[in-house]
Amino acid sequence: MKNNNSVLFALSASKKLGNNVAKYLHQELGNIEIKHFDDGETLVKSIDSLRNKDVYVLQSTSNPVNENLMELLIAIDSFKRASARSINVIIPYFGYSRQDRKTESREPITCKLVSKLIENSGATRVTICDLHADQTQGFFEVPVDTVSATYMLLKQIKKDISLHDAIIVSPDYGSVKRARKISNSVNLPMAILDKRRPKPNSAEIVNVLGNVVNKTCIIIDDIIDTGGTLIAACNVLKQHKAKKIVFAATHGLFSKNACHNLQKAIKDKKIDRMYITNTLDTIYNCKIDHLKIVDISPMIGEIIKIYQGIGYKTITNLYNKTKIRKE
Ligand code: R5P
Repeated sequence: MKNNNSVLFALSASKKLGNNVAKYLHQELGNIEIKHFDDGETLVKSIDSLRNKDVYVLQSTSNPVNENLMELLIAIDSFKRASARSINVIIPYFGYSRQDRKTESREPITCKLVSKLIENSGATRVTICDLHADQTQGFFEVPVDTVSATYMLLKQIKKDISLHDAIIVSPDYGSVKRARKISNSVNLPMAILDKRRPKPNSAEIVNVLGNVVNKTCIIIDDIIDTGGTLIAACNVLKQHKAKKIVFAATHGLFSKNACHNLQKAIKDKKIDRMYITNTLDTIYNCKIDHLKIVDISPMIGEIIKIYQGIGYKTITNLYNKTKIRKE
């Protein structure tokens, strides 16, 4: 986007999504120079003047997390020093969001540290898609809008499959609130998986709370990372005689051997369908059968329009009018 008052930039981790958003808005992306020096340092600067402009910058702080985060911080600093009027930081996937509390003595709260860094660099507003825990908004003093793609995923699922024998499954206790909201909105029963993490990146599910016999289980999560939660969920749901498993998540990190393991789970008919959004550009590198990618660029485009005082005017109105969310 490049009109008289606004400029939209897409940084390295969100180039594809940024191009989609720009297309949706019938605008061009702003010209930005991102240089990586031989000593590992980065320089980011706008090619054109930003004086008195409203800047919108898209960057997922995904793997390589520290590299992408630093690039974002440097970009914000450069916009501030170029006298931008406002700096609207849109973070489709917010890395470190799961490190939002001390779970053991002497642990850091890195999510708060990262929030402070973004704010102190000069962000005047932050928009995050499906933030891991809503209360993280409080780590910022500038306004934060958290937006959800869950209902776009659900809309796609409803188009593809019949929900007559479906049940919404919360993959862990942390996701119960989200699952309950969804089950209420589509009028379906709900089950909860009793997940434990014996060590980081390892998931164990022993109990299922609810009856999943002969049901199509729709698991909706915010993140799929190593895929461990999903595979453990499939195993326990199949043991409890579930008929089909449909999985949807906003952020597809696909770390370690996730792609390979999930493709195998699809081939072995443990998972029937998967839905992930494109908050991470890298999602397109993962080739999995029966994986559908849901494009969130229309939602981001509409949110930018709201910030510009046009279109749906408020986020609640956007959700209601597009029926992507039932409040
Ligand atoms: C956990 O709290 C999250 O909501 C996800 O369930 C988790 O991050 C997924 O990670 P993985 O795919 O590695 O099990």
